[in-house]
Amino acid sequence: MAKKKQKKAKAASRKPARKVVKLAAARKAKNKTNGKQSGLPRVSSKPYGQDGKALTGVRILDFTHVQSGPTCTQLLAWLGADVIKVERPGIGDITRGQLVDVKGADSLYFTMLNHNKRSITIDSKHPQGKRVLDELIKVCDVLVENFAPGALDRMGLTWEYIHKVNPRMIVASVKGFGPGPYEDCKVYENVAQCAGGSASTTGFREGPPLVTGAQIGDSGTGLHLALGIVSALYQRNRTGRGQKVLAAMQDGVLNLCRVKLRDQQRLKAGPLTEYSQYGENIPFADSVPRAGNDSGGGQPGWILKCKGWETDPDAYIYFITQAPVWAEICDLIGEPSWKTDAEYATPRARLPKLKAIFARIEQWTMTMSKFEVMEICNKVDIPVGPILSMKEIAEEPSLRKTGTVVEVDHPTRGKYLSVGNPIKLSDSISEVRRSPLLGEHTDEILKDVLKLSSKDITEIKNSGALSAPKKEEKAA
Ligand code: COA
Repeated sequence: MAKKKQKKAKAASRKPARKVVKLAAARKAKNKTNGKQSGLPRVSSKPYGQDGKALTGVRILDFTHVQSGPTCTQLLAWLGADVIKVERPGIGDITRGQLVDVKGADSLYFTMLNHNKRSITIDSKHPQGKRVLDELIKVCDVLVENFAPGALDRMGLTWEYIHKVNPRMIVASVKGFGPGPYEDCKVYENVAQCAGGSASTTGFREGPPLVTGAQIGDSGTGLHLALGIVSALYQRNRTGRGQKVLAAMQDGVLNLCRVKLRDQQRLKAGPLTEYSQYGENIPFADSVPRAGNDSGGGQPGWILKCKGWETDPDAYIYFITQAPVWAEICDLIGEPSWKTDAEYATPRARLPKLKAIFARIEQWTMTMSKFEVMEICNKVDIPVGPILSMKEIAEEPSLRKTGTVVEVDHPTRGKYLSVGNPIKLSDSISEVRRSPLLGEHTDEILKDVLKLSSKDITEIKNSGALSAPKKEEKAA
């Protein structure tokens, strides 16, 4: 009996060993065939960053303008898509001429949102222009637009029509609102910030609602749309068909404000103890209040003055009194007794005194520059954030090194700074190329993308479908 047991145990201990040998053999075979024979896709043997880009082979028909749509297509272009921007002859994207700083040159508004794209001018309401668009729809994978509701349909480019011309086409739109009472409204950044819950929860309790400098309505929604497009492309690999992608600006802003909807529901369970108004004994109403510079999480934080604040509007630092480093904070600011004093030692005990505690910490931060405070705090893991001005960000060498801030050369405006691709992929490295001049690639696209003959191109050009109406025609 004992012998039998021993035998069984021996066999059991041998089993996994055999499995390991089998797996190793399979791995060996796979490496030998580079994955091909085993049915797995090929593994590139090229060095990282030298085997195309993430979206190489994807062609985008870009009907976007202003900020939200262009943010999306610029990202896709950085990720390797061929983005063909269709612009109205003679005018182009309205932002080319908005907030102009160099006379006669495309504005920074336009150049900073349209890198790595090609521009073709087409009058989408001209019959010949419409024909060119049809041809482009056939050879593109995605149509992206952020016109006012109904504008694309008025061009004759309904979903049904596009889908008939190219069933694989993904049609992606930014709109201000999703279906509902406001679906027909035109919407800009701050409208979305207000309708998406950001403005009502930003600012100081005693002041009016505030909009933020971050373009969460426009650029934020462009980011959401880009994710929707990439997902639709992935699904198309399986289904073979395109689909509609909608990112409404109200929805995008609300998604970024989700912690505030969290707090709205928490109100039912009692006051929001991490909001400083709780410590100040001010009762909560029935909706989430503005919380000034309170930190959004459970760790109290505030913006504190640093040396030079009297003359420098950005000499401030965000300081978080994170519980695990409370002892280090007490030592740094010269209040070691607060580590053990029952009135200060626990986060709960500190809540009603946060204003006074931050005032004491501020006495300490005011003796140093924001960078000195950061250096000292970082050493002991106290989370702090210097308030960086745009000037400081523009001059920051580490951001230049990573390509997050880039210098771009442009034929009519010269050198300018831009924000590069904030998403870094190790095998799909973005170079930032200047934005196109209006209609710069019209001929190239007709010839190389649509394979039109010189005769056809001349005919289309003579029809007036690619150029602005002459002055007399306009007047008539
Ligand atoms: N050829 C001919 N006509 C063209 C054209 C082309 N290549 N490109 C655009 N147009 C026309 C459109 O067909 C439309 O004409 P129609 O209204 O007569 O049908 C017109 O130009 C303007 O489109 P529209 O989108 O209404 O521009 P707008 O300047 O009046 O409104 C917005 C701008 C941003 C408010 C609006 O587009 C919008 O609400 N977009 C959705 C939300 C959004 O993205 N907002 C944020 C922008 S950053």
